[in-house]
Amino acid sequence: MKRLLLFALTLALGSSCLQAKTNETDLNIIPQPQSITMGKGSFKVKGANFNYDSSLEGRTIKAIAALADDLYVATEKASSIAGATGVSASTPLGSLKGFYFLKDGSMGPEEYSIEINGKAAKVTASGHNGFLYALMTLRQMLPAELFKKEAVKGVDWAIPCCTIKDSPRFAYRGLLLDVARHFYTVEQVKKFLDLAAYYKVNRFHWHLTEDQGWRIEIKKYPYLTEIGAFRSGTQTTYDRNVNDGKRYGGYYTQDQIREVVEYANGLGITVIPEIDLPGHMLGAMASYPWLGCTGGPYQVWTRWGVSDQVLCVGKEKTFEFLFDVLDEICELFPSEYIHIGGDECPKTSWEKCPACQAKMDELGIKEDERGTRGQKLQNYVTKRVQDYLAGKGRKIIGWDEVLEGDLAEGATVMSWRGAKGGKIAAGRGFDVIMSPNSHCYFDYREDPSDDCVGVKFSRHQLPLEKVYSYDPYEDLDDTAKTHILGVQANVWTEYIHNENELFYLTLPRLLALSEVQWSAAEARDYGRFLAKAKGHLPVFDILGYNYHPLVEPDRKNSK
Ligand code: ACM
Ligand code: ZN
Repeated sequence: MKRLLLFALTLALGSSCLQAKTNETDLNIIPQPQSITMGKGSFKVKGANFNYDSSLEGRTIKAIAALADDLYVATEKASSIAGATGVSASTPLGSLKGFYFLKDGSMGPEEYSIEINGKAAKVTASGHNGFLYALMTLRQMLPAELFKKEAVKGVDWAIPCCTIKDSPRFAYRGLLLDVARHFYTVEQVKKFLDLAAYYKVNRFHWHLTEDQGWRIEIKKYPYLTEIGAFRSGTQTTYDRNVNDGKRYGGYYTQDQIREVVEYANGLGITVIPEIDLPGHMLGAMASYPWLGCTGGPYQVWTRWGVSDQVLCVGKEKTFEFLFDVLDEICELFPSEYIHIGGDECPKTSWEKCPACQAKMDELGIKEDERGTRGQKLQNYVTKRVQDYLAGKGRKIIGWDEVLEGDLAEGATVMSWRGAKGGKIAAGRGFDVIMSPNSHCYFDYREDPSDDCVGVKFSRHQLPLEKVYSYDPYEDLDDTAKTHILGVQANVWTEYIHNENELFYLTLPRLLALSEVQWSAAEARDYGRFLAKAKGHLPVFDILGYNYHPLVEPDRKNSK
């Protein structure tokens, strides 16, 4: 009877978690580690003690304690968690009993290793991210029921004996969330970050400002959130002339921003804020109309697309505003990089504006084969902001339009209009983050038959396999390759209205992306990836993440 029940439970969960894991694919580790050597037998983790190097950071110990707690709750067997004495990273596995987290300063910043025999699991890393990734890997090797946060009977609480050595392919592994087109609460952002961290993403690009809403409190300019954070309606179909007439908006207070930055830090994720300029600024211009060339009035946009109305950069007051905003941004975000947007900035308002024209004349800007007067005026804006931030020890990232005309040395280019911009930038010696819409835009529907409300309005398509197939080095010579810092996927939210749709579009494509970002190119295998990904669906079910069905046979699970 008991066996039958167990069998039924296995079927219901749709995973093989109750069977012994004997091969690498069964371990379900995503992204694929650099190397796995399978041993024989398994380490029974019920009641195993946790020991850690006393020199580990508080946030690392907290993450280790979280795993110990989850195991305690699931197995109903208490264990101790304490600083380890008399052991070091070089202590042989054979002399250990329980979990050990030991520091090895000679390892890379995100590298880790895990050695498991029948009595112990020994983890080594040089710092927080390495230990965190080891913990994520251990969690993925354990039964999904670990996430239930309740006592679970009938589960084999064991990890197969193996040795894993792992480190990332790319240092920059990003995920963007657009909270401007649709707003997501702090709790939802944290849920998004939990997921990102589980797949070893280490940068959260937070798209905070837009034509359709300004979402971050700036103390010096209170109207940005009093006025700029709310719009009078939202375009809900492809018809740009129609909106629903319902007031919509929201923003984060500076305390909430700090809370998210701190939370992300615990997850090994650096938050990179984006203040998109000089286009995509209607939220700010509606709040302070003197920011525009005509002086307004402007409205927070109720439709999607690209507005002709952009910041007036002929006026010094505009730069004062930008520098004031960036002062507060730098206070809130410790990130080395600040994203300054730069995409989709029409030059039409500058062409008609006496102040902008006078500025171009004063700067001696002339159209030539390198670019138009408008493009060069944008170069001037980029350079001034870049210099201002450099004075604060920060570097800029800009969308690939910043490359048009003359981009100053030291900028990093985020290639979104395909990989072409990235290729040109890398060829010219700029650092590049690849985020081509051909492979990395998660707002595009996964397949044409998707009927999730809202998602159906996403015109473009990006199947899972296409994400998986992405080669960030395609067409690049060896020198250009050294400039590719990494890869990022973007979740734009024009047609994503709520958390359910957000995760439906993010999953399972984030899993495919993570193998592009982390795993060695030659280690990728789509068939094995699909088999492993199937084992992750029970985790999403337990934690309440909606997801797109993985493959045809799973379609019935669609929500
Ligand atoms: C973008 O998708 N406009 C960067
Ligand atoms: Zn102007």
